[in-house]
Amino acid sequence: MVVPATPADIDAIMACERRPGYEATVGRWSREQHLAGLADPTHRYFVARRPDGAIAGFVMLQDVAIEADSILVRRIAVAEQRRGHGRQLLGHALHVIFDELGAHSARLGVRAHNANGIALYSSLGMREESRREERGHSDEAVSVITMTMSAESYRQSKRSNP
Ligand SMILES: CC(C)(COP(=O)(O)OP(=O)(O)OC[C@H]1O[C@@H](n2cnc3c(N)ncnc32)[C@H](O)[C@@H]1OP(=O)(O)O)[C@@H](O)C(=O)NCCC(=O)NCCS
Repeated sequence: MVVPATPADIDAIMACERRPGYEATVGRWSREQHLAGLADPTHRYFVARRPDGAIAGFVMLQDVAIEADSILVRRIAVAEQRRGHGRQLLGHALHVIFDELGAHSARLGVRAHNANGIALYSSLGMREESRREERGHSDEAVSVITMTMSAESYRQSKRSNP
């Protein structure tokens, strides 16, 4: 079940971001940053809740506005990989972006070495649009891919996989 996050979920969200091995692929925010994000009307947070109530992962959107052109999937992370939670969370995020918010496109940035992320995004129909070089935490060069999906391709994929 994917539901909007509340401040009570911040510990679990921070634990997801901080899982060993995730530091090379996903950003981390402090409690204060997440509290500010949850209160910010241009952000949306959703958590995947397991039947026992535990948080299986989260997704954060940014650039949400009344007439949003493009909405950014800013962050997604799961507590346990390859159990379908990433697909569930991104599927819900795309539903909110296109069906509820009526945006024209969804976009995200993923590091080129993040095969799991790219596989998830591609499997839901997102496509590479461009690449840029950025500086990582230790000033190393990192290649970041922008992946996007248009409202039209979202609707087409819904028609093929209702
Ligand atoms: C990226 C991430 C969110 C994917 O979530 P997940 O729950 O592991 O993914 P799912 O189990 O829902 O898999 C969905 C699909 O993605 C693809 N996929 C995901 N991980 C994969 C892997 N290791 N190898 C191949 N395909 C993979 C598959 O197509 C998969 O569908 P399938 O299981 O039917 O074959 C997760 O790996 C994660 O939290 N990574 C660390 C944080 C991170 O990198 N976030 C993204 C930053 S851009």
